[in-house]
Amino acid sequence: MQQDYKSGRQSSWLLLNLVHGSSTVTISFTRALINMDTGFSQLHPSERVLLGPGPSDVSARVLGALASPTIGHLDPEYLRIMDETRQMLRKVFQTNNEMTMAISGTGSAGMEACVCNIIEPGDSMIVCVNGVFGGRMKDVAQRYGANVHSIEVDWGRGIRPEQVAEALKSLPACKAVGIVHAETSTGEHQPLEEIANIVHEHGALLVVDAVTSLGGIDLPVDQLGIDACYSGTQKCLSCPPGLAPVTFSERALEAIDHRKSKVTSWYLDVTMLRNYWGSDRVYHHTAPVNMTYALRESLKMILEEGLQARIERHTRHHQMLRAGLEAMGLSYIPEHSLTTLNAVSVPDGVDDAAVRKRLLHDFGIEIGAGLGPFKGKAWRIGLMGSSSTVRNVTLVLSALETIMRDMGYALTPGAALAAASDAFKELETAAGA
Ligand SMILES: Cc1ncc(COP(=O)(O)O)c(C=O)c1O
Repeated sequence: MQQDYKSGRQSSWLLLNLVHGSSTVTISFTRALINMDTGFSQLHPSERVLLGPGPSDVSARVLGALASPTIGHLDPEYLRIMDETRQMLRKVFQTNNEMTMAISGTGSAGMEACVCNIIEPGDSMIVCVNGVFGGRMKDVAQRYGANVHSIEVDWGRGIRPEQVAEALKSLPACKAVGIVHAETSTGEHQPLEEIANIVHEHGALLVVDAVTSLGGIDLPVDQLGIDACYSGTQKCLSCPPGLAPVTFSERALEAIDHRKSKVTSWYLDVTMLRNYWGSDRVYHHTAPVNMTYALRESLKMILEEGLQARIERHTRHHQMLRAGLEAMGLSYIPEHSLTTLNAVSVPDGVDDAAVRKRLLHDFGIEIGAGLGPFKGKAWRIGLMGSSSTVRNVTLVLSALETIMRDMGYALTPGAALAAASDAFKELETAAGA
């Protein structure tokens, strides 16, 4: 390949000399050749089927939007695009919150934005920890000076409302309670309704991590009374990573407006970002213009599909996959599985890394490894956004079956696909009934 490229260049060089016979042309062309020869190959990432914990597959429509011409971030056209993006985000968050926008940065930036605006050094915060991301929220809150009381629960188990009530009783001055709706490290789905009521009865604010749920699992922000909620573009929204949608309730904004000290992070200060995303358009930082195009397109696709229909699609494909994985003898780790992420135990005697490597190299499929205590013991199979399809369920089941049989794992050939297909038929019948 390299050889062809070089000989191709050489023949063009000769041809040019023959045609022009001019030393000036020869010199400038040779310079151009030297500049081209960076020693780096052409960028050519492989096409993958993204069935890990994120990013998920990005549609051609969203990629097309990303490649649209860059315009100025204060151009009236871009301001309209920002406004429309906010309007669509409100629909997906199911909120009327004015302060709904996309933070420049990934999901972790959304986490920091929610925590650092609400928490002042010395404030008390309860953080629920049953996996990596609850642990990350605790760390972030401590870094912003919170006095953190954590509710620690076994990984893969949910937080019980009584635990939150008890913690609030022991910490009456608690300003906020942080909890993860969809714990990507374990696949545990956390119900929020009862916990939200308890938090509000105590006059605290509720901060929710919806990175792996927004756009895939029902999350009625206003109905639940969530005060600060953040997500990421690369999961159920099926947009590349790079923006963190957030929304703040009036109650949260009031708390922010009554802060005694400035928000500790300049970049994530909602009191300034509000003026940039609001009608005043006061310059704060240069918004990632093309990422906003991509997010806008992905949100438009969600609204075209219908939020409810999309949530049901995630549920259907999860049920199919679950039926197939269980027929293969794999067991689910979480007590209440997410529909967007399936965490299963790696069977005894099966080499976790070798299976994932073959999935990637032979089938182009990415799935996730276990984190923390589940390192080497879990597979995390995401079915999020554009990745949540019947085709992908079928593909990953047959690929896993092929690889595990090759490795000597005892299973009934075809059982997984048959179970998935039965689940599909049952769901179709139920939907038609
Ligand atoms: C539940 C949850 N919260 C937060 C994050 C952090 O998001 P990011 O990696 O986009 O910064 C992730 C990422 O996987 C996540 O799954």
